[in-house]
Amino acid sequence: MSETAAVTGATGFLGTHLCERLLEEGWDVHALARPTSDRGDLEGIDWYVGDLFDGETLRSLVDGADAVFHLAGVGLWSADPDTVVRVNRDGTANVLEACRAEDVGRLVFTSTAGTRRADDGAFADETAVADPIGAYQEGKAAAERLVDHYAAADGDAVIVHPTSVFGPGDDSFTGQLLAMGLEPTMPATLPGGASIVGVSDVVDGLLLAYERGDSGEHYLLGGENMSYDRAAERIADYAGGVPAPVRVPATAIRAAGPVAEGVHAVTGQRIFPFDRGMAALATKQLFYSSRKAREELGYEYGSLEDHLPETIAWYRRQ
Ligand SMILES: NC(=O)c1ccc[n+]([C@@H]2O[C@H](COP(=O)([O-])OP(=O)(O)OC[C@H]3O[C@@H](n4cnc5c(N)ncnc54)[C@H](OP(=O)(O)O)[C@@H]3O)[C@@H](O)[C@H]2O)c1
Repeated sequence: MSETAAVTGATGFLGTHLCERLLEEGWDVHALARPTSDRGDLEGIDWYVGDLFDGETLRSLVDGADAVFHLAGVGLWSADPDTVVRVNRDGTANVLEACRAEDVGRLVFTSTAGTRRADDGAFADETAVADPIGAYQEGKAAAERLVDHYAAADGDAVIVHPTSVFGPGDDSFTGQLLAMGLEPTMPATLPGGASIVGVSDVVDGLLLAYERGDSGEHYLLGGENMSYDRAAERIADYAGGVPAPVRVPATAIRAAGPVAEGVHAVTGQRIFPFDRGMAALATKQLFYSSRKAREELGYEYGSLEDHLPETIAWYRRQ
């Protein structure tokens, strides 16, 4: 008999790729969509219309699911800080409430690598719990504590922490990264660096966490660690493009932090880099180790180049 997955965030970048894989592998897929969500063109999904604050819909969504993949979340680009905390923290509390009330197997919660941090250029692992910077990390860190408690007291749950996800369908991070390597008109690359992971590798990690993870455990799902300069060069080499010629100095980004705070104080409007804390973070090499996921789940990630053919094909279709 096929297994049943309940998916929140199914209409987002990562959720769409997860649902596609689940359908290919023969799962019954129940997915949450808001009335306004773009459901795309995947066929075979049972849609549950509502949002993270609609308890009744959440209960019917998760009831009978072998796996509940909770991916729905919101970042600072799309909402004000109060909403960001509310959706990430309280939305997760509502999913947990629904799981407690119904018959569910394992919950796999998608947090972020951002709740872990090491010194600039060093590799953070799951134990490197960081003080949250900004509403997104704050909301995710609070949600993790709720899921940890659920795993200890009520049910079966695993937490995954993807790093910076790269792949078709993401016009924010992926679009920017590709533009730095492919567009001669793109003015600059960024200082700092990241662990860049292909979206199909993260989908593998989500399924491995369901199959092999230990309840209550956290797993970083990362990729290659590299500076943005190097990423832009490698994308340009691969595609025959020209990497962005100038790097924005780290000092300029740091200096923009107080400006962003000032604009917010006067106008109520949030502009990147949002504040001093986020400005400092944006200039760092935020690197991560995926060793625990590799050793305990059998997780593997490909190189940037492994993921470029389909990602560049998608980018050029835009
Ligand atoms: N992309 C990355 O690099 C990355 C890295 C680390 C962690 N993550 C985490 O992975 C998850 C998926 O990320 P993503 O990049 O796929 O994000 P995304 O494309 O922005 O998708 C977010 C999803 O959450 C849904 N959602 C937002 N608010 C909701 C609400 N109130 N009720 C119900 N659904 C709601 C959205 O629905 P609509 O379609 O209606 O907007 C969408 O399906 C998020 O939790 C994110 O924090 C992402």
